[in-house]
Amino acid sequence: MLVACELGIFYLRRRKTALRPGLLYHAAALFLALWAGLELTPWATAETLIWQAVCGAALVLVALVLYSLFDVFVLRRPWDPQRGPMAPALVRDVGRILVAAAALLLALTWVHEGSLGTVLVSSTVLSAVLGLALQDVLKNVFAGMALQMEQSLRVGDWLSIDGQPAVVVELGWRATRLRTNEGVELVEPNSEVSSRRLTVYGSGRRPVGFGFRVGLPYATPPAEARAALLAAARSAEGAVESPPPQAMVRSYDDSAITYELRVFTREVAAIARFRDAVYSRVWYELQRAGIDVPFPVRTVELHDVARERGIEGERERSRRRALLGGLDLFADLPAETLDNLVAAAREQHFDHGERLVREGDTGDSLYVLEQGRVVVSTSGDGEATIAAGGGGGASGTLQLAVLGSGDFFGEMSLLTGAPRSATVRADGGCRVLVLTKSDLAPVLQADPDLAELLCRAVERRQAATAAARAERRERRPERTAQRDDAVSLLGRVREFFRLPGR
Ligand code: CMP
Repeated sequence: MLVACELGIFYLRRRKTALRPGLLYHAAALFLALWAGLELTPWATAETLIWQAVCGAALVLVALVLYSLFDVFVLRRPWDPQRGPMAPALVRDVGRILVAAAALLLALTWVHEGSLGTVLVSSTVLSAVLGLALQDVLKNVFAGMALQMEQSLRVGDWLSIDGQPAVVVELGWRATRLRTNEGVELVEPNSEVSSRRLTVYGSGRRPVGFGFRVGLPYATPPAEARAALLAAARSAEGAVESPPPQAMVRSYDDSAITYELRVFTREVAAIARFRDAVYSRVWYELQRAGIDVPFPVRTVELHDVARERGIEGERERSRRRALLGGLDLFADLPAETLDNLVAAAREQHFDHGERLVREGDTGDSLYVLEQGRVVVSTSGDGEATIAAGGGGGASGTLQLAVLGSGDFFGEMSLLTGAPRSATVRADGGCRVLVLTKSDLAPVLQADPDLAELLCRAVERRQAATAAARAERRERRPERTAQRDDAVSLLGRVREFFRLPGR
């Protein structure tokens, strides 16, 4: 029997299987051979203790060998090594123990001459005693099994434990072994690992986003702040291009607007270094963009506030005067009238994509673009609004113009009271000066040439819009031709502003 078993295993090994017969196999073969020998011996009956012991041992050992074969040929999935074993090592080990326990139970019933009841009672009592004594160990073993079955943690994964990054080195029976960046090993009981909330960053194959909070001055428009933060994030070492970084306003705080900058990286093993790279780049980028970091630095300075405000106000006024005076529209205005306009103008900021003017809305303000760009577009039926009602064109948005610093818009509604002829959207952050009808009325009344200048701008734009529509093969409503007539437009403006006729 022994020779047969050894020949069998020799044959299997020759076929290069993953089977590695150890002591267990040889012991099982030996006990099987002994059993066969006892069966042939007349004095060894089923009642003798030696017969029962050999049978029991052979039974347990054979069960373990069979389980090992099942493990090697089935559970480890040898036909598809890419996918790995069907169950984690811990679960397979528990299976082995259960098989051994079942075989032992069966063997003991033989020793107790077939009385399974006695064996069950004594084994139940034993299990209860062991269960109580090993309560903690068992809790950890089951938690470890759950962790491995779920595969929520894998060896090589980085996670944050008590705010400290660490890598999973081993998922054991009782505990999970972790190693921090400082090389310190943490042995965390499995029950703790499975019950606490862990932040798992993964192994770095998939990019992970980290948040960075930066406080920036209230005086910096969010569009500028976001642009600077994104530039810093893109240039930081370790940041990936996709997914791209994101910058968002998070909250208005005591001395700063707090922004949340989210940057993605695969450097999960060196989170501290990545944080350093991003925060350092943020400092340099802000410095180059002329944006201060208002906290945590607290600077106490004594100022002559009234004087400084006066200087700042004068600086602001001369900037606006230069902008408005530089427009063809207002170039010939007397200094005093220009000053009145400058004093009346209100400065407004708009974010990327925001609508400054919406087609079809009523409006009575003229916008002068100080900084940034805007896109002028009209919908399919926009021509109807130019023509002050009626008619309809094709649907779909038609881009009419891109205006930049020093351009103005909104003059059409302001001059005639007609609904807005187009939609104007900020393309990036922008700053404008806004003048209302009541600000402009005295200026128009004092200088009727200005009305003509504005009307010419309106005509040019209406012609450009018509050309854009024609290019799109749109049918123009007949009434537009009448409306485009300069004389009638000027007449309407005069009437609207109660200007003297000429
Ligand atoms: P208003 O009609 O008041 O509101 C929309 C504004 O878009 C309009 O005034 C013009 O200032 C501007 N606008 C309309 N059509 C054009 C165009 N073809 N080119 C440039 N700007 C335009």
